[in-house]
Amino acid sequence: MATQLSWLGHGCWEIATEGGRIVLDPFLDDNPLAAKKADQVEADYILISHGHYDHMADAEKIARRTGATIISCYEICEYFRGRGLEKLQPMNIGGVSQQPFGRVKMTPAWHSSTLPDGSPGGAAAGFLLFLPEGNVYFACDTGLMQEMAWIGRAGLALAVLPIGDLFTMGPDDALEAVRLLHPRKVVPVHLNTWPLIQQDAQAWRDRVQQQTQTEVILLEPGQSIRL
Ligand code: NI
Ligand code: MN
Repeated sequence: MATQLSWLGHGCWEIATEGGRIVLDPFLDDNPLAAKKADQVEADYILISHGHYDHMADAEKIARRTGATIISCYEICEYFRGRGLEKLQPMNIGGVSQQPFGRVKMTPAWHSSTLPDGSPGGAAAGFLLFLPEGNVYFACDTGLMQEMAWIGRAGLALAVLPIGDLFTMGPDDALEAVRLLHPRKVVPVHLNTWPLIQQDAQAWRDRVQQQTQTEVILLEPGQSIRL
């Protein structure tokens, strides 16, 4: 089975691999543009980049229904342990976890992370997945950072970058991020969910494709790509 990555809207992805089904940053039921409801998602693993509502609102209900393991930073795993969940894989920035679908590395992110109850969520993160068909970098919520240069050294089949601005990188810095990462393909996310993060994805695609070697893939929520 070839790995298939489906964007469900905002920062949320469903990734079907030979070694299991992954959901990243589940935010579905309260997302006006989401392609699915939380009860329509099947998962063996739930990756959570940070504690903000628009990245983990549906994590607990998906974990309870499916029995999926939550993979996140130590503080977020402890938050879910306190709520009675037991299948947890805590990690932290720079660490790698070997999973049946491949290795997961937790990468830094310039962002904040506060949990729904107001407690600190540890460091905000991104994820680098080493999948059989290639490496995929999810920047998740972050500003532009020089660390992207060494993340790119892994060799990236795909990078997923926020371009919505205001809470994350906007289009200009995301173009600079493509220069640092030099992925084969890039998908822009974290845009148009609300008027505050409205962006012209087609204009961004044109700029990136004129100024870099990277192919820009524009997805609608619910659409998929293969590596
Ligand atoms: Ni955030
Ligand atoms: Mn966000």
